[in-house]
Amino acid sequence: MPTIPFTRAARMIARGTWSFCIDRPLVVSFEVTHSCTCNCQHCDKGGMKPEPPGLLQAEDYRRLRSVLKPMVVQLSGGEPLLRKDIEEIVRAVKEPNGLPYTILVTNGRLLTEEKYLTLRRLGVNQFSISLDFPDERHDDFRRSPGLFKHLSELVPKLGRHGFGDAVLNTAITRGNLKTLRATYEKAKEWGVAISYSAYTPLRTGNMDHYISAPEDLELLRRTMDELVELKTQNGQIANSPWTLTGTHDFLKQGSISGCQAGRRFLVVTPEGGLRPCSMFDPTYASQKEIMEKFVATNTCGGCYVSIRAYLDASFWTLLKDNVKTRVLARNGRANQC
Ligand SMILES: C[S@@+](CC[C@H](N)C(=O)[O-])C[C@H]1O[C@@H](n2cnc3c(N)ncnc32)[C@H](O)[C@@H]1O
Repeated sequence: MPTIPFTRAARMIARGTWSFCIDRPLVVSFEVTHSCTCNCQHCDKGGMKPEPPGLLQAEDYRRLRSVLKPMVVQLSGGEPLLRKDIEEIVRAVKEPNGLPYTILVTNGRLLTEEKYLTLRRLGVNQFSISLDFPDERHDDFRRSPGLFKHLSELVPKLGRHGFGDAVLNTAITRGNLKTLRATYEKAKEWGVAISYSAYTPLRTGNMDHYISAPEDLELLRRTMDELVELKTQNGQIANSPWTLTGTHDFLKQGSISGCQAGRRFLVVTPEGGLRPCSMFDPTYASQKEIMEKFVATNTCGGCYVSIRAYLDASFWTLLKDNVKTRVLARNGRANQC
C-alpha cells in the first residue's frame, strides 16, 4: 500500500477528524461516467451508453471538491478512463496541499504504463485495478476478451516502479470463492497489493453470485482466516482485518447493520446528483438533504463493499488504523506524487 509523506498524512487525519465530528463525508466517490468497456456479470454499470445531458466537467468537480471537502476521493464509474478529460478531472479534484487522497478505480483495459505515470504525477495516489479471477476466467466474467492478458503484462510493470500505489481489487462471488487465495498469489507475483470486497445483489438482484450455502460459507471463513494471517506477515493485503472477518459474517447473516452511507461517504453521479451510495437510484441536491431524508431512517444492511465496510468503523478504530498505516509508515516508501 502507498505510504504518504508525514505532513500530508497529518493533514488527512486532521481533515478526517473534523469531518467525522461534523458529519461531513470522509470519502466521496465521483462516478465520472456510467459507460464501461466491460459488461461484468455482477455489475449493473456495464456497456457503453450515450453521453448524458449535463455531464459534469472538470470545473464542476473542482467546485464539488471545495464544497464537500473530502479526505479521500474515488474516481470511479462505469470506467473512469473512458473520460477523455480524466487528466483535467484529476487536476480539478486535487488541492495544492495534496489532499484529497485520490483513488482511481478501473478495470485497467484502457490503462497503460505511460497513463499510470502521468496520472500519478497529477495526483492519483492509488490505482485500484479490478481482478476477479487469477486467469482468463476474468475475461469471461467481465465479458472482455484479452483483458487478463493485458493486465498480466501491465500490472507487473506498474509493480516494478516500486511506488506501491497499484492495488488489485477483487469482488468476492460464489464463482471466484475457490480462487481467492490464488488471486492473492497473483498480486504477490505481480508485485502489487490486493483488496477484497463482498459481492452484493443490491445492484443486480442476481443471487447467482451470492455466497450462502453452508459449505461455501465454511470455505470463505477458512479463506478469510488465512488472509488475515497473511496480512500480518506482509503488507500485500490492503483490507483492515475487521473487514476480512466482517465479510464472512455479512454473508452468513445476509445483512449487517450500522451502514454509514450518506454520513461518512457519498456518491456523485455523472450528472452531479448526490447519492448516499451506488446501490440506490434516488439522487439528492445536498448532503443535508441526504442526512434528513435518507440517513435518518436508513436501516439497509444489504452490502459490505469496501467503502462501507471500512467506514462503518468507530472514530477511534479509524484513527488508530490511519495512524498505523499512514503516519507510522512515514519511514517507509513515500508516495511523492
Ligand atoms: C462499478 S466498478 C467501476 C470501476 C471500474 N469500471 C472497475 O471495473 O473497476 C467498481 C468496483 O465495483 C465492483 N462491483 C461491481 N458490481 C458489484 C457488486 N454487485 N457487488 C460488489 N462489487 C461490485 C467491481 O468489481 C469493481 O471492482
